[in-house]
Amino acid sequence: MTDTIKELVSKCLQARDMAYCPYSRFPVGAAILTADGAIITGCNVENASYGLTVCAERTAIQRAVVEGHRRFTAIAVTCDIKDSFVGPCGACRQVLMEFGSDWTVYLTKPDGSYKETSLSELLPLAFSPAHLGKN
Ligand code: THU
Repeated sequence: MTDTIKELVSKCLQARDMAYCPYSRFPVGAAILTADGAIITGCNVENASYGLTVCAERTAIQRAVVEGHRRFTAIAVTCDIKDSFVGPCGACRQVLMEFGSDWTVYLTKPDGSYKETSLSELLPLAFSPAHLGKN
């Protein structure tokens, strides 16, 4: 594991500890690596009006964009499930795709072990801004 990946994985685990999830009690953490080497984190933020919940991956992406980042290379995501590698939900896959298909995705277990995959593998034949000719 390179130092950068180690840091990305460790930051997604820390972000999971910040999750606001009183309804599902299912904390999720995400950490995004930007093209210039910054790491931006997110956690899920739930709401009493359940449908307003925002996933960890989308919280991270929104923070990253506000902070001026639009080029990304990787994301690490984690939850409390110990016995399998869990992928981002379909909505989050689409939101990541907005910023390119060339993401490495690290599906991370609570012990820090991870499975490396990619956004194109997680969302094949995706709809993207290129189809609108507007990216
Ligand atoms: N959740 C995420 O944060 N990311 C995902 O990719 C899947 C689901 C959150 C939303 C909700 O707060 C909780 O996990 C249970 O669905």
